[in-house]
Amino acid sequence: MSAEDDNTLHPVPARLLNTAECPEPFVKSYEQYKEMHRQSLENPNEFFGKMATEILSWSKPFTTVQHGGLLHGDTAWFLDGQLNASYNCVDRHAIANPDKIAIIYEADEPNQSENITYGELLRQVCQVAGVLRAHGIRKGDTVAIYMPMIPEAVVAILACARIGALHSVVFAGFSAEALRDRVQDAACRLILTSDQGKRGGKTVETKRIVDDALKSCPSVESVIVCQRTGADVPMTPGRDYWWNEEVIKRMTYLSPEPMNSEDPLFLLYTSGSTGTPKGVLHTTAGYLLGAAATVKYVFDYHPGDIFACMADVGWITGHSYIVYGPLTLGATTVLFESIPTYPTPARYWELIAKHKITQFYTAPTAIRALRRLGDQWVEGHDLSSLRVLGTVGEPINPEAWHWYNDKVGKGRCAIVDTYWQTETGSHIVTPLPGAIATKPGSATVPFFGIELAILDPVTGKELIGNDVTGVLAVKRSWPSLARTVYGNHQRYMETYLKPYPGYYFTGDGASRDNDGYIWIRGRVDDVINVSGHRLSTAEIESALIMHHSVAETAVIGAADDVTGQCIHAFVCLKPGVSHHSTDLSKELVVQVRKVIGPFAAPKKIYLVEDLPKTRSGKLMRRILRKIVADESDSLGDISTLADPSVVEALIAKVANA
Ligand code: WTA
Repeated sequence: MSAEDDNTLHPVPARLLNTAECPEPFVKSYEQYKEMHRQSLENPNEFFGKMATEILSWSKPFTTVQHGGLLHGDTAWFLDGQLNASYNCVDRHAIANPDKIAIIYEADEPNQSENITYGELLRQVCQVAGVLRAHGIRKGDTVAIYMPMIPEAVVAILACARIGALHSVVFAGFSAEALRDRVQDAACRLILTSDQGKRGGKTVETKRIVDDALKSCPSVESVIVCQRTGADVPMTPGRDYWWNEEVIKRMTYLSPEPMNSEDPLFLLYTSGSTGTPKGVLHTTAGYLLGAAATVKYVFDYHPGDIFACMADVGWITGHSYIVYGPLTLGATTVLFESIPTYPTPARYWELIAKHKITQFYTAPTAIRALRRLGDQWVEGHDLSSLRVLGTVGEPINPEAWHWYNDKVGKGRCAIVDTYWQTETGSHIVTPLPGAIATKPGSATVPFFGIELAILDPVTGKELIGNDVTGVLAVKRSWPSLARTVYGNHQRYMETYLKPYPGYYFTGDGASRDNDGYIWIRGRVDDVINVSGHRLSTAEIESALIMHHSVAETAVIGAADDVTGQCIHAFVCLKPGVSHHSTDLSKELVVQVRKVIGPFAAPKKIYLVEDLPKTRSGKLMRRILRKIVADESDSLGDISTLADPSVVEALIAKVANA
C-alpha cells in the first residue's frame, strides 16, 4: 500500500442492515462473503451450477458446468445447455408481468421521459428481429449498431440476440473512420442507426457519419434508420430503410433462436496497447450470468428497485449494466440520453429524485466534474431512495469518493468502486453493499469465482501475502470472461493469456494492502484512460501521423483533475514544413477527432524537433511522461539515449507551452 492511500475503513452503513428501512442484503457480513467466495473457488461446479439455474432460464439444461481454462485459452461454461439472451431479458418477464416498466428513457430534454413496459419491449424486439430476418440476417451473422441512447438501441441489441446474430455496438461518439474500421473488421452485413442524435442540447449527425463510413464497407447490405429527430437525411435506395416502415410489416411475436451456452452473443471493440482495436467476443450463458449476478450481489438489486447506470450502451458498462444485467433480473433500467450538466449540473440529482432511483452508477470523472461546480446543485433534491452508489472506469480519488458519499449518499448509502474491463464482462474486484467495509480509492475484494493474483511483472512470480505491489492477474477462468478476439484467437492468447501462462493478465498494476484489499494503480501498458474511456497511444499516434506535415509522434497520458488522464502529443514535423504552430495544432486535433472521435482529442500538442530515443531507436515514453508531470529532476538514466541533449529542449518546450 502506498503512503498516500486513505486507509480508513468505512463500515457498511447501519441503515442497509436494518430491515425496517432496507431490503435484507443478499450478503450481510464479511464472514458470509468470505464463505461464499471460498465455496465459489473450492466447488465452482456446485456454486455456479446452482447460480446459473436460479438466475437464468434454460430451454435445455446444461450438463457440465465448466471446461477448459486459461492455460489453453479454451474456457467454456455450462456445456450442452441452451438458452436465449433476449428470452431471459424480456420474454419471461413480459409473460409474468407485462405492465412492469422495463426501460425508463430519460431523453436529452428533461420533460421528455418515456416508459417502456416489458410487454411493449417484447413486441418491439420481436418486430426488429423480424426486420433483421427479412433482410437476410441469420444466426452467426454480425450486425453493427451505431445509435444514440434511445430505447431502440436496446431493442436493436436484444433483437440481434433473439435471432443469434452477433451485435457489434459502436459508441456513437466514434468518427466515420473508426466506425468503418470496426464494421470492416467484423464484416457486418447490416447497420442499425438513426437519423440524428441529441446530446446535451446538441444535434449529432448520426446518419451522415454512417454514410461516410459506408463508402468503404462492401459487406453492408442494409441500413435500418430509426427516427430520433425526424430530420430529412439522405437515404440510399436499395440500401437504406426506415425503421418504422420496416417494423410495422413484422409480427409482434417471433420465437427466440435456441443458442448454445458458448454461442457468441456479441463483440465489442476495445483499445489495446498495440495495433488496431480488438473485437472482444463474449458468449451467451457465461456473460449473461456474470452481468446478472453482479447486478444482484454488487448492487444488491431487489425487485422493485429502479436501477440507473449512466454509461453509454456503446461501452461494456452499458452492455452489462443498462441492458443485459438489469433486464435479466427483470429490473427497471434507466436509459439516460443526456449529459450530467444539461440543462444544469443538477440533472443527475433531478433524475434520481424524479424516478426514485435506488442504485446509481457513474464514473469518477463525472463526480469530479460535478463536485467542482459546487454543492448547491446537489443540495435540496430528495435523494432518499438511493441505497447503492457505484463507480467504474478508473480509480476514484478520495476527495471525489467523500463527496459522493457525503453529498450524494448522505453517509447512508454503500459506495461500490467496481473494477472490471470489457474483457471481464462483469465486475471482478468490488465491494458488496451489505458486507464489505470500504476504503476510499480501493476496489476492495474479488467477486465470487475470481481468484486474483498479483504478479511480479518481470519474473511473473506470484507475490504471496499482503502488502505487495505488482501486476494484476486472475488465476482461473470465470463465466463472463471474453472467449476470444473476433477472428484472431492468437491475438487473444498473446494479449491476455501468454504474458503469464496460466493467468489472465489484466494490463493493470495493483497493490494488495495490509487488510488484503486491492488498489488498482492504472495501466501498465500504453493504454490511456480519459474519463474512463480506453484509448491506445498507438491509435492516436497513427491518427496523427496520417497528417501530411507529421514525421513522427509520441503520445502519452498526463494527469488531469477532471478526466483522470488526458492526452499530450509530441509531434515532429517533416523537414521543410513551414507552419503557424497554433493553426497546425488545431489541425492535428481535428485530425484525431476525425480518425477516432471527439473524445480522443489531445489536450496539448507540442511541436518538437526530436523525440527521446535510445540508440536502437526505441522511443522512451517514460521520459516524456516525467517531463509533463514536472518530474524532470527524476528522469532516471538517460545515458542510453541516442542524443541526451534532446531532453533539455523538451523540458523547455513543455515549460513554455
Ligand atoms: C480501468 C470499463 C480503477 C482499468 C469497465 C481497466 C478501473 C480499464 C476501474 C478497463 C476501477 C475500470 N478502478 N481502474 N474501479 N474500472 N478501470 O475495458 O485500467 O473500458 O483495465 O472497461 O479501466 O476499461 P474498459
